[in-house]
Amino acid sequence: MVCLGNICRSPLAHGILQHKVDQLGLNAQIDSAGTNGFHNGELPDSRSMEIALTKGIDISYQRSRQIKRSDLANYDLIYVMDSSNYNNVLRLANSEQEKNKIIMIMNELEPGRNINVPDPYYGGEEGFKNVYEMLDKATDKIIEKYL
Ligand code: 4NP
Repeated sequence: MVCLGNICRSPLAHGILQHKVDQLGLNAQIDSAGTNGFHNGELPDSRSMEIALTKGIDISYQRSRQIKRSDLANYDLIYVMDSSNYNNVLRLANSEQEKNKIIMIMNELEPGRNINVPDPYYGGEEGFKNVYEMLDKATDKIIEKYL
């Protein structure tokens, strides 16, 4: 799961999917990262931790990190939150096979529409709620499709 800072959107995507995988007893390795590395080592944004907790999901074990080239080799699917993330991650790909792993997460629900999960960082709580709802639906679809 990849966004820009790895403190707002992708930690939620990571935490929600991890929670569902754990509850269902599925086997999948899930992680998240940011393209910019500005928040390396930091906890998720408190607003992301809060909205997750209201749903019974603790994401406080996560620490922000920057995506690296080897992630594209080591993971089967690389979900990005928006088109800017998509372009940034695409530049790290070493092959067509790696490029094909990169998916805008909302395309799992609405293929080909390239809908962005909006960056909630500079907004209020409502933005985080909206992000949560979008990612809840997208992660259901991911489980149905791949796990
Ligand atoms: P995220 O939100 O990409 O959803 O983690 C952001 C958080 C911080 C910054 C950018 C986006 N930042 O550059 O500080």
